[in-house]
Amino acid sequence: MHTVETDVLIVGSGPAGAAAALALSTYGVPNIVVTRYAALADTPRAHITNQRTMEVLRDLGVERDVIAKATPQHLMGNTTFCTSLAGEELGRVRSWGNDPLVQAAHELASPTRMCDMPQHLMEPVLVDAAVARGTHLRFSTVYKSYAEDADGVTVTVEDRLRGDEYTIRAKYLIGADGGRSKVAEDAGLPMGGQMGVAGSINILFDADLSKYTAHRPATLYWVLAPGATVGGIGAGLVRNVRPWNEWLTVWGYDVQAGPPDLTTEYAESVVRQLIGDDEIPVTIKSSSAWTVNEMYAETYSSGRVFCAGDATHRHPPSNGLGSNTSIQDSYNLAWKLKLVLDGTASPKLLDTYTAERAPIGRQIVTRANRSIRETAPVFEALGGLAPQTPEQLWANIEARKDATGAAAEQRAKLREAIAFKAYEFNAHGVDLNQRYDAGTSAAIVPDGTEDPGFDRDPELYHQPSSRPGARLPHAWITAGTRTLSTLDAAGGGRFTVFTGIGGDCWLRAAAARDADIATAVIGPGQQYEDPYGDWARVSEIADSGVLLVRPDGYVAFRHHAAAADAERLLGDALRRILGHD
Ligand code: FDA
Repeated sequence: MHTVETDVLIVGSGPAGAAAALALSTYGVPNIVVTRYAALADTPRAHITNQRTMEVLRDLGVERDVIAKATPQHLMGNTTFCTSLAGEELGRVRSWGNDPLVQAAHELASPTRMCDMPQHLMEPVLVDAAVARGTHLRFSTVYKSYAEDADGVTVTVEDRLRGDEYTIRAKYLIGADGGRSKVAEDAGLPMGGQMGVAGSINILFDADLSKYTAHRPATLYWVLAPGATVGGIGAGLVRNVRPWNEWLTVWGYDVQAGPPDLTTEYAESVVRQLIGDDEIPVTIKSSSAWTVNEMYAETYSSGRVFCAGDATHRHPPSNGLGSNTSIQDSYNLAWKLKLVLDGTASPKLLDTYTAERAPIGRQIVTRANRSIRETAPVFEALGGLAPQTPEQLWANIEARKDATGAAAEQRAKLREAIAFKAYEFNAHGVDLNQRYDAGTSAAIVPDGTEDPGFDRDPELYHQPSSRPGARLPHAWITAGTRTLSTLDAAGGGRFTVFTGIGGDCWLRAAAARDADIATAVIGPGQQYEDPYGDWARVSEIADSGVLLVRPDGYVAFRHHAAAADAERLLGDALRRILGHD
């Protein structure tokens, strides 16, 4: 049997696998992707693309390609609750950074904007760039099994075109093979939580719904109708795929009873109920049943095998965290693999992948499932979750218009319940406050400061910090006529030392190291200037202090000011991060 060789074999070309391939190829690491089908995702699937993911894509050089294809942020924002698109509107949430206060927070937090990038458009952007940079991609190729030895993994794959099997020899294997990951199963990754919590159906259809949507542009329109709380994701959903002609509905089913027969007639009846206007021409494109899961891996790796994306966290689409977290997993892993493969780091660095990403996976699985439950109060404000006859539900909805104290109370309850959905649609902190813990990850060096915690709700509000383990704070800085983010001064697969006037000791310390370390000196007359004083406000160090920023934009080491033993301090920090302790 012919054996193919590579450094990293990636199973899967979804967001996790494609991002891993893109990052590895960008860093010059040879890699092969094998993927089961003859094509990339053919349905929209994940779509909300948050600021952190956009930062990752910016560093990987594809941010503009994504922006060119995505629905922009300002068309995402009027998350609407209604009885049907043509029916009564119950309220809206200004979402996804479109609330003026949240919008300001988004602008302050990052050089990027979130957008709506359906997965069938995202995957080609990632995969095209990966292949252009050296990834070998094999479609119609199925992972079957792997065997690990001291030097690598031998993976058996099936070529579905030729109908035969061959082996690929790799130093590392990434299982990015989705929610039914065979790689995670074969690696014996322990999973917590539960699969199959509720049943859902996706129906993809074309219809010109501009009449009901263009005046309140949104990514999501939630429909409260009889039956909308059976299974599913909190209520019936009409999701925009492309304004305002391509759509996807999500409707629940009783998971105990099993999915209904997904005939075109059934699909059309669901779509018609959610639209509420039988005159609108509708073309059903496809339907599929899936289950809401609440599951996360406790460990993301075993030996030379690493899993990423849905292989390690399985949860509903609420908060739009699936593809985002998958891309961010791979971004966390790729630079570590690169440094281990080129001999800069010890394989111990790879242990930090689980230490850093597993707590995040667990957190987002919990958040997404909680968001489903937090839709219940909207129904409760309209008479409760118990199955109601359509007449009872419509009467309860109508009752809120009365000039009575009870109706005023009901209106207030409904407003409050809808506003509370900010935890699903405006959770800026969930997107940007992910921190890694020096207590568990050796790739973060504690600086002796107490964790100050968060001043406000950490799920709703982003709070920048330069404490080791936090993402580098964004500030606009300048280099001559060019304005760039501090995040742009980092990344590119390298460590970066950030310092300022008086921080020469850190530059000398960085130059003395073998590792490839970029420098960013910020201050008047320096490499970069801080004309707005933004950096001085968020850096939390003196001008002569230092931040050592990892290739993934996370602060690994911080020292408040210049130090006589800078070389030793930076050297010790790098030794710890790179696993040479
Ligand atoms: P993903 O599942 O995207 O990719 C897995 C890859 O592995 C695929 O390329 C697959 O072909 C490949 N593969 C699997 N087994 C293999 C094997 N044995 N050998 C070779 N290749 C193999 N999320 C959301 O936020 N909103 C939504 O509306 C939806 N809707 C939705 C619909 C459907 C039908 C699905 C399947 C999923 C969603 N999701 C979603 C979830 C979202 O798509 C998901 O979180 C991300 O795609 C996860 O990305 P991954 O790359 O981890 O897995």
